[in-house]
Amino acid sequence: MSETKMMRLPMEEAYKDELEALAANDSGRRPAGWKLSPKAVRTFILGSREPISHNGKQVEIHKKYFGNDALIERCIVTLAGNRGLMLVGEPGTAKTMLSELLSAAISGNSMNTIQGTAGTTEDMIKYSWNYAMLLDRGPIREALVPSPLFVGMEQGIITRFEEITRTPAQIQDSLISVLSDKVLNVPELGAEGLLFARQGFNVIGTANTRDKGVNEMSSALKRRFNFETVEPVREVRMEKQIILQEVSKLAMENGIEMEADETAAEVLASTYHELREGVSSMGHQIDKPSAVMSTAEAVSVFYQTMMSAYYYGDSKISMDDMVQNLVGAVVKENKDDLPKIRSYFQTVIKDKSQKEGDVWKAYYEAKKYLG
Ligand SMILES: Nc1ncnc2c1ncn2[C@@H]1O[C@H](COP(=O)(O)OP(=O)(O)OP(=O)(O)O)[C@@H](O)[C@H]1O
Ligand SMILES: [Mg+2]
Repeated sequence: MSETKMMRLPMEEAYKDELEALAANDSGRRPAGWKLSPKAVRTFILGSREPISHNGKQVEIHKKYFGNDALIERCIVTLAGNRGLMLVGEPGTAKTMLSELLSAAISGNSMNTIQGTAGTTEDMIKYSWNYAMLLDRGPIREALVPSPLFVGMEQGIITRFEEITRTPAQIQDSLISVLSDKVLNVPELGAEGLLFARQGFNVIGTANTRDKGVNEMSSALKRRFNFETVEPVREVRMEKQIILQEVSKLAMENGIEMEADETAAEVLASTYHELREGVSSMGHQIDKPSAVMSTAEAVSVFYQTMMSAYYYGDSKISMDDMVQNLVGAVVKENKDDLPKIRSYFQTVIKDKSQKEGDVWKAYYEAKKYLG
């Protein structure tokens, strides 16, 4: 039997070398309970110009987030203060990725997470009990099952709360006292039931603005967070870079020995960009699809196309495959968008195929898959 690896590593494992090199060379001011200074956290997320030498090795700090650098600085500073950080935005804008990177760099742990759903209960946010032990030995600390919030307070690390607005508002509100007083009361434990948060504790929430049935967050809870909006990528060049970087990482993790095709990445990046913005680089007005044309989705369409080329083809990206995967991605959200994609091909891609030829021509010819 051949050995298999983990499908995905937590950020603190995936970037262990980078984090160690940054820690060893960190001379910036460090908030209590933090593994790195805000400056080093910033470098971890935005990358460094020069590699850092550590243990006789030159360690390159990769750029992981592309977009608004000032946003990253504000997020880091918020976390050093006494309010939580709430990342809001469209799907696929890297909210989850950012919260993982921040937690890995600040606390060395990105896995202390509550996943918000309609079924999230107060127990899941605060603590619950091991009932067998509770019945046997009464309410003692060992019988308490801590939640990720409890663990965050106890260890002085960040607790991530994913998709917080999917949980009912009154359940979200159990966070209020913890965020304002930094103390959690476990009445069952009597005098020993007060858990005071250690320094380094904070909460990063993420919330998707497109979620249907999003419960309104109470204003009392809103005041305990600084809100930051994570915008979609606005430049084709950056979007292409993200696609290339992410699919190369995926390919490497999955043993797919194939270079990511730059021209094909450019074609896909400009398609996503133009459909999202509603205007082409040549000035055509485009009827925007209602589906979210997210960068995350572009990455997945490209990777899917790469896998087809690797397993069935000759390791060359096929535009036919790419268009079919694009259709899949758009139709799963709203099949009424298909005519809009078709008209985009009949105008913008047609013009590009005539002007640029080559790959654009193949892309245009693949319009036969648009139904
Ligand atoms: N600005 C960006 N910089 C780097 N990568 C990005 C950027 N935007 C999107 N991505 C890519 O998109 C992926 C998806 O991001 P992520 O899952 O964090 O999105 P999200 O905002 O949490 O989405 P959702 O609201 O659906 O949960 C990232 O892992 C990354 O590959
Ligand atoms: Mg997310």
